[in-house]
Amino acid sequence: MARIGILTGGGDCPGLNAVIRAVVRKGVKSHDHEFFGFQYGWAGVLAGEGRPLDINATRGILPRGGTILGTSRTNPFKDDGPGVEGVLAGMEQAGVEMLIPIGGEDTLGVAGKLAEAGVPVVGVPKTIDNDLAGTDFTFGFQTAVQIATDAIDRLHTTAESHNRVIVVEVMGRHAGWIAAYSGMAGGADAILVPERPFDIDEVCEHLRRRHVQGSRFSIVVVSEGAHPKDEGLIASTGELDAFGHERLGGVAVALEGEIEKRTGYETRMTILGHVQRGGTPNAYDRVLGTRFGVAAIDAIARGETGTMVALRGSEVVTVPLAEALAEPKLLDPAFYETAEVFFG
Ligand code: F6P
Repeated sequence: MARIGILTGGGDCPGLNAVIRAVVRKGVKSHDHEFFGFQYGWAGVLAGEGRPLDINATRGILPRGGTILGTSRTNPFKDDGPGVEGVLAGMEQAGVEMLIPIGGEDTLGVAGKLAEAGVPVVGVPKTIDNDLAGTDFTFGFQTAVQIATDAIDRLHTTAESHNRVIVVEVMGRHAGWIAAYSGMAGGADAILVPERPFDIDEVCEHLRRRHVQGSRFSIVVVSEGAHPKDEGLIASTGELDAFGHERLGGVAVALEGEIEKRTGYETRMTILGHVQRGGTPNAYDRVLGTRFGVAAIDAIARGETGTMVALRGSEVVTVPLAEALAEPKLLDPAFYETAEVFFG
């Protein structure tokens, strides 16, 4: 029996509650563990704030989007932040001996530093962007792809009715996973991703060719982090979060103007934004989140620390946090080339 702290950090993601429920259910049933849910990510850990979690407290949350614990992008190691000492003080206040942080590169980056300092930690990978190394998929990604695909289907019919080009901006800061998957599923005519800086002349030429061949509308799917070959990040707002990331959003606005100006085709844009992160998780993400939660408790039972649960093929395994954090997992070039077959 142990008392374990759980937290959810970074951007929220469909399936977080499935993980929380699974961790608590498995931990209580198999090991008689007690749980404390820190509120608002590392902010709650530093403040020692949250609430005890038992099986009753996690009933009914499996289909719920967001996180019952709340989240934040607080970074205990930012500037002269409280760091390891602050985290240990919060853990002591809450009476927990170890932590299960559920998060992406930033939240798990903090977990990695804590593990190096000797704090017992097992991480669970989360991001709709699917850009975390060490795992084939993160939960939340499939739900986001479905939301984006549904939107592309809808935009297709209106684009066709009006003979318009529609630019659809999806999330994906470093990696174009959501754009490539939803673009392939939605039959996009072009997909622009951060891994492949685009040439606006080539994009417009491609759209002209389509029109010359008889197609009178086009759908362009673009990741928020996509950028042109010869300019900076046109989508940046200039604002930074606590982990130093630029707040993105707006590449579709620039593309809408440029495409219409250069081709003369009437163009509209839609930024899907946070709708991709909201709402109920699909079945895949509920199942993956559940498997990850159970695996995190199993890893603790084996005495692991400094690891993260991960999907490899169809198996859930654990990998060192350092491996997962080394660099972002970029889009598989072969996947993009398959999507490209259907452009135009
Ligand atoms: O969680 C990842 C992500 O969804 C990115 O794709 C996006 O750039 C970012 O979060 C948005 O963060 P926020 O909700 O803080 O604006």
